[in-house]
Amino acid sequence: MDHFLYRDGVMHAEDVSLTDMVAQVGTPFYCYSTATLTRHFQLFDDALAGMPHLVCYAMKAASNQAILKTLGDLGAGMDVVSGGELARATAAGIPGDRIVFSGVGKTHEEIHAALSLGIRQFNVESEPELRAISEIASSLDARAAVAIRVNPDVDAKTHAKIATGKSENKFGIPIARARDVYAEAAAMPGLDVIGIDVHIGSQLTQLDPFEAAYKKVAELTEVLRADGHDIRRLDLGGGLGIPYSQGNEAPPLPKDYGALIKRTVGHLGCEIEIEPGRLIVGNAGILVSRVIYVKSGQDRDFLILDAAMNDLIRPSMYDAYHDIVPVIQPAVGAERSAYDVVGPVCESGDTFAKARQLTALHEGDLVAFRSAGAYGAVMSSEYNTRPLIPEVLVHGSEFAVVRARPSFDDIINRDTIPYWL
Ligand code: LLP
Repeated sequence: MDHFLYRDGVMHAEDVSLTDMVAQVGTPFYCYSTATLTRHFQLFDDALAGMPHLVCYAMKAASNQAILKTLGDLGAGMDVVSGGELARATAAGIPGDRIVFSGVGKTHEEIHAALSLGIRQFNVESEPELRAISEIASSLDARAAVAIRVNPDVDAKTHAKIATGKSENKFGIPIARARDVYAEAAAMPGLDVIGIDVHIGSQLTQLDPFEAAYKKVAELTEVLRADGHDIRRLDLGGGLGIPYSQGNEAPPLPKDYGALIKRTVGHLGCEIEIEPGRLIVGNAGILVSRVIYVKSGQDRDFLILDAAMNDLIRPSMYDAYHDIVPVIQPAVGAERSAYDVVGPVCESGDTFAKARQLTALHEGDLVAFRSAGAYGAVMSSEYNTRPLIPEVLVHGSEFAVVRARPSFDDIINRDTIPYWL
């Protein structure tokens, strides 16, 4: 459920008409709903009620500080994967003790910064990383709380580019070697080995891969405890999928996911962390764009938008499907025809949808890409020297531009021409 609905024939974001917003912001832009963000965070928090837990939003999905602060104010923790995300979460007021640092290649500088902030936990992915964290922590007279990410060799049954829990993926340590690695870690002076971490992939639309992975984590917890490790926290990652096509998909609900967690690891008495990104922000965001031209090709019509692959790369990169809907509500029963929906970038890959059935659209019409909140703005680039598009956050009848559209000068002036030219 989200808060982008037609009202009096115009799509609204909560109580704000998108046409009003367009008049002030211009197109294209991303628009997020506070009510949807809040609702989705709450669904996870409620799903884990009764267990000590922290929902650590995977901020890689959408990292605008206004989103982070909205979630942080609700009590969310943050899952960060770079020094930049760490700085951003901190700037948004997230306290260190609610920050978990994941990622397969943390640099020494990043580890140092995280230790200085006193973060809650490192999710560690290799033995050399364990050694680096221990050394840096010791040099600061600190002990770093670590969970080791295990690779459970489970097929997440999702797109190959976003599956992370198979042995051929670069993530985590093989679960078969976990006992040795935990023994090594326990002997390192700068580490406090507190838990186990697992994350098997993203956009999972079934629960069984989670179940398989979490059962392995539960078994491993018992084994490691028998080896003398005080395993008291389990980070179960993110990955729960969302419906991208309205009415056609019904991925599992957070409450069923929460019940699965209770069933598989609840008896262990551990504090539970989860790291959802997409489900919190995916359907809380849309991308609003304008039709520049409608062009008749040899055997098809092209809808040429002012948004492009640099603004939303998911269709080009993963063949991802996004619903595209007109901002002005079409008449009931209005005829549909097929369009190839494309952007202005000079690549054939700049295609959002092929042969998409849409009601008639004309030059100047507005459309919205639904479910664009996760991995939309954060993956955008300035390819073709197209400015990063603004982000807008709606709250009831109010809205604010939370990332402004840069001018061409802002972009161009980042370059410097060396003295010999
Ligand atoms: N935790 C870790 C360690 C992760 O690597 C990820 C996502 C998450 C949590 C959050 O997963 P989520 O709940 O959002 O599924 N760009 C791709 C998705 C990449 C996901 C990367 N890792 C896309 O647009 O589909």
